[in-house]
Amino acid sequence: MRFHVLTLFPEMIMDGLHTSILGRACEQGHISIDAVNIRDYTENKHKKVDDYPYGGGAGMLMQAQPVFDAYKAVEEKILARNKMASENFIPKMKARNQLQEKNSELEVANSENKNFTKPRVIYLTPQGSVFTQKMAEELAKEEDLVFLCGHYEGIDERVLEEIVTDYVSIGDYVLTGGELPAMVMIDAISRLVPNVLNNDVSAEFESFHDDLLEYPQYSRPEEWHDKKVPEVLLSGHHANIEKWRKEQSIIRTKERRPDLYEKWISKEENQKYLEKLNKQKAKKKSV
Ligand code: ADE
Repeated sequence: MRFHVLTLFPEMIMDGLHTSILGRACEQGHISIDAVNIRDYTENKHKKVDDYPYGGGAGMLMQAQPVFDAYKAVEEKILARNKMASENFIPKMKARNQLQEKNSELEVANSENKNFTKPRVIYLTPQGSVFTQKMAEELAKEEDLVFLCGHYEGIDERVLEEIVTDYVSIGDYVLTGGELPAMVMIDAISRLVPNVLNNDVSAEFESFHDDLLEYPQYSRPEEWHDKKVPEVLLSGHHANIEKWRKEQSIIRTKERRPDLYEKWISKEENQKYLEKLNKQKAKKKSV
């Protein structure tokens, strides 16, 4: 997965994302993160990239020309790389298909098409659809993603119309620019890319899996500040541990995210699960 970030503050992206888990993932080649400075593409001799909005109003707008040219440079790079990859890949695939005497022309055609499709371009804006785990899962399937970060009061609408495929917000609040939202999205997407997390299971079983929040976790020591680790977790009884964790997930979701709980409980199988759990508990109490 290759991330390309169009920004006026490339150092913010590069410093922020080349540390810890994502830093290691970049070093190991599972992902790459490239920040492109929009200012490098301005035709203005004073390196200006912003101007006043027509019709008046507060603040400055980023102009169309430098944003468009910066994007075009990234798009060209992506298409050239894909073309090169296909020139190596397609003859190999054809040879393999001949060997196997299988006609997989569709596979070849698909890969040829993919090489010439434009990348998805995500513009970070409070006016976009709110980013979710489901969106992260969908975006993690792409090979290249371009993020466009606005600053000041935004970007000239005409260039957005030409290059943007997705308008995304990270929540209903306003930040000073799109860099932090882009970093948030890149982090959430990267951890779904194979091999980025050491432990692939942990990307799967966690908050928002199955619409429930994650259960509480404990590590050593067994007792700290007079608080003991729940006994079931020390029992080694896997079925009981799993049951306890699911129950805790339900309790936590109901308390902290009633909106998610409503979504979860609206599914028939979950209602049945809860009824069964409550019956088992009532039976235990009456003993
Ligand atoms: N730019 C400014 N605020 C933002 C937000 N909440 N989400 C995405 N981009 C933004």
